Amino acid sequence: MAFHDAKSSEPWQVGVLFSRSGFMSVSEESQFHGTMIAIDEINAEGGVNGREIVPRIYDPSSDNSLYREQARRLLCEDGVSTIFGCYTSASRKAILPILERLNGLLWYPTIYEGFEYSPNIIYTGAAPNQNSLALCEFLIEHYGPRVYFVGSDYIYPHESNRIMRQFLAARGGEVVGESYLSLVARREDFIPVMRDIREARPDAIFSTVVGEATVYLYEAFNDFNLNAKQTPIASLTTTEAEIEAMGYDVGEHHITAASYFEGLDNPSNQRFVHRFKKRYGESARVNVCAEAAYFQVHLFKKALELVNTTHPDVLRPVVLGSSLEAPQGTVSINPNCSHANVWSRIAKVNALGQFDIVQQSQNEVVSDPFMIGIKERN
Ligand code: ACM
Repeated sequence: MAFHDAKSSEPWQVGVLFSRSGFMSVSEESQFHGTMIAIDEINAEGGVNGREIVPRIYDPSSDNSLYREQARRLLCEDGVSTIFGCYTSASRKAILPILERLNGLLWYPTIYEGFEYSPNIIYTGAAPNQNSLALCEFLIEHYGPRVYFVGSDYIYPHESNRIMRQFLAARGGEVVGESYLSLVARREDFIPVMRDIREARPDAIFSTVVGEATVYLYEAFNDFNLNAKQTPIASLTTTEAEIEAMGYDVGEHHITAASYFEGLDNPSNQRFVHRFKKRYGESARVNVCAEAAYFQVHLFKKALELVNTTHPDVLRPVVLGSSLEAPQGTVSINPNCSHANVWSRIAKVNALGQFDIVQQSQNEVVSDPFMIGIKERN
C-alpha cells in the first residue's frame, strides 16, 4: 500500500466519506462542511509541514454498500490511509472490517451507542456516559419518570435505548412504549406512533430517530397538537440543522443533549461559527456534527505535524492522549479507548431555532464507552 512517506513533497491525501445525498444528507452535510473548513484553514496556513491536505471526496448516498465500496477504493486504489467519515453506526460497522483488514484509520465524528473498540477508529462524538446519562436524570427531574422511546430501525437506536432503559430503571423511571420506524419513514408513518404516544401518556419522549425522518417525527408531534412544553421530545441527534429543516415553531421547547451548540460563547467557537457562515452563508446552521468533524481534522493535523506520516501505526499512538481547544471547549482523546473526552450539555430549542443551554458539565467528561465506571452497564 502506498502510504505517504516522510520524504515526499506530495500533498497529504485524505478520504472524506459523508453522504451528501439521500436521507442522511441533512445530518452528514454538516459533517462534510466542518471537515472542509478545517482542511481549508490548515491549507491557508501552509498545510502540514509545508504540504497541503488534499481531500478525496466521495458521496456514499446514504447507502451502506457504497460506504463499503468507497472505503475500499480509498484504501486500496487511492492510496489513502486516513478517512474522515460516517454518521450512522450502521455505516461505521459496514466499513470497520475493511479498515481493519487494510489498516486504515477512520476519524468518526458522530455520537453513538458505545460498546465498540477498534484500533482503526478514533471516535470523536459522545458515548452514552457523556450524553444519555445526564439526559435521563434531567428528564426524570424536570418532566417525570415515564418515558416513551421512538427510534429509527437500526443498531444505534436499539442499543441506545437498551442503555437508556437501564439508566431509567436504576433511577426509578420506566419505559411506557417503544416504536421503531424505517430510516426512510415519511410523515404519515409517524401517525400510529403519535396515537400510541397519546394513549401511553408519557412524561417525555426519547427519540433516536435520525436523518430526514427526524423532521417528520417532530412535524407529526405538532400535527397531533401534543404539548412540547409539557412532554418534550428529547434527543441526542436533533441538532440545529434538523431544527432548521423542520421549522423553528415545530422545534420549539424540545430538548437535545450534545457536546456542542452553535450559540456557545467562547473565542474558539466564535471563530469557527464566523468561518462556517462566511463559507456556507449567514443562514447555514452550525451543529455538533460539524464541530466534531472540524476539531478532529485539527487533531489529525497536530499529530501529523509531529510524525510526518499518515501511517496509522505511527500516527495513532501520537493521537492518543492529544488534546485541543475545540469550539465546545477543551477536548482530548482518551488513550485507554480512542474515544474523545467531550463536554456534556443539555439545551432547549427557543423560538429562533437556537438552543438555550439549561445544563452543562464543568469540564469535558471522560469517555467510558463500555461504561466500566457505571453500575448499570450490560
Ligand atoms: C448513530 O448512528 N451513531 C447516530
